[in-house]
Amino acid sequence: MNAPTTPSADGRTTGDAGERGWFTRPGAHEGPPRLPEGAAPSRRTGGPAGRRPAPPGPASAGAPAAGPSPDALLIRRTLAEIEPSADKAVSYFYALLFLRHPGLRALFPAAMDTQRDRLFRALLTAARHVDDTATLTEYLSQLGRGHRKYGTESAHYPAVGECLIGALAHYARDSWNADAEAAWVRAYTAISQIMIDAAAEDARTSPAWWQAEIVSHESRTPDIAVVTVRPDRPYSFRAGQYTSLETPWWPRVWRNYSFSCAPRPDGLLSFHVKAVPAGWVSRALVHRARPGDVIRLGPPTGSMTVDHGSDNGLLCLGGGTGIAPIKALVEDVARHGRSRPVDVFYGARHNDDLYDIDTMLRLQKTHRWLMVRPVISDGPTLGLSGQLPQVVRKYGPWNSYDAYLSGPPGMIRSGVDTLVGIGMPADRIRHDSLDELTASAT
Ligand SMILES: Cc1cc2nc3c(=O)[nH]c(=O)nc-3n(C[C@H](O)[C@H](O)[C@H](O)COP(=O)(O)OP(=O)(O)OC[C@H]3O[C@@H](n4cnc5c(N)ncnc54)[C@H](O)[C@@H]3O)c2cc1C
Ligand code: HEM
Repeated sequence: MNAPTTPSADGRTTGDAGERGWFTRPGAHEGPPRLPEGAAPSRRTGGPAGRRPAPPGPASAGAPAAGPSPDALLIRRTLAEIEPSADKAVSYFYALLFLRHPGLRALFPAAMDTQRDRLFRALLTAARHVDDTATLTEYLSQLGRGHRKYGTESAHYPAVGECLIGALAHYARDSWNADAEAAWVRAYTAISQIMIDAAAEDARTSPAWWQAEIVSHESRTPDIAVVTVRPDRPYSFRAGQYTSLETPWWPRVWRNYSFSCAPRPDGLLSFHVKAVPAGWVSRALVHRARPGDVIRLGPPTGSMTVDHGSDNGLLCLGGGTGIAPIKALVEDVARHGRSRPVDVFYGARHNDDLYDIDTMLRLQKTHRWLMVRPVISDGPTLGLSGQLPQVVRKYGPWNSYDAYLSGPPGMIRSGVDTLVGIGMPADRIRHDSLDELTASAT
């Protein structure tokens, strides 16, 4: 069986269906692994590590109507069994990975407490959606491109696959048999091949990461800073997207931040960063970073971008620093020169938290198609009072609008529910999407 360690010419899997091959049968050459010294207890994700949550049923869109394939059924059976002990399976997976392939440890952050299970959960989620090729390819291609910045090479993929199978076999004993293993091997082979191919394709035109020098650092509140950087090479992105970045103070710890501007002629990029309590990267960016410091940027990602072929209006909900990509979208519409209504609801707890309201109101003065409404949930305000989604419901009608939501997970969830509840089709609601397969993993 061929390990998917090289890009395939046709972008399809090179693994042989159904045969055992490049995975070592779990336990065949060693006893149960011991946790490496200092291994942190595992934690589940789905919390604040990812700001934007999953939309309802994101990965089912485009799923075939014919029903699950035999492989999908086998995979689901394993997943159902493993779910109650998923945290243990994650620990076991990493223990296997670092014991069998100690060289790979250096690719991961020193402390793997926050996002530890994202890799493993993404694998499970991708396998769950093995029949849904379109969704999988979009998600995994982006993931594969993003993995270049970690130093991931195609030769690393079999090691991860072998340890995935090891963990599954250990924690899904009742449903594990040769058929289940063959189904997982096929699924992982397909998954990793998509990532490998996308990374190889990307390497032809883009660096794995960019160095970017901080050229300005502006404190807007005690906890929020606008950080502007100059990438060392041209950095092409679209308004509404985000990137991952690494600071010099926390090597190999990458976090996502939205671009707060549309692409600029001078090539500079800005981010609005809120320091969260005990936050590694956000606190460093807000309280420590200064002009002259150099950070690393991953590739741009995310699909919360404007369809310039449509005349629909834009209904934008931005909560907290979620106003950053919304401001970028407004700039993007302005640059395209076609008037279309843009209604922004800018939510915060208190008036003082509306750190970018002056900019937004300035934009409103310049563009007659733009309406900005501040919404305050706690405390007095001269604007609107209440929770963002509830306030939006009172306005409208929104039937000729596309919606763009950015902010805390709770706001996104209730925003999506509200909009769907008032009849907006789910495919006209956008927010950062591709993390979502992971965030929705259960
Ligand atoms: C697509 C996307 C775009 C994002 N864009 C932005 C952006 O433009 N600006 C921005 O400031 N952030 C943004 N985030 C959030 C950002 O990626 C980090 O999660 C955040 O900055 C915290 O990282 P950290 O390393 O400081 O904290 P971590 O070290 O990850 O967490 C430290 C502690 O803080 C808690 N925590 C994490 N986030 C929060 C929070 N929001 N509120 C309260 N507690 C929290 C954690 O549970 C943990 O206990 C975005 C996230 C995603 C997924
Ligand atoms: C099909 C295989 C894989 C899948 C589905 C997968 C998925 C993921 C996901 C979802 C993340 C979270 C951060 C992000 O979105 O970038 C992640 C992080 C990471 N992955 Fe992978 N991955 C795979 C293979 C690999 C391989 C082969 C390596 C190399 C050893 C690797 C190394 C890493 C590293 C170093 C991180 C960062 C960890 C961290 O920040 O804590 N991954 N992976």
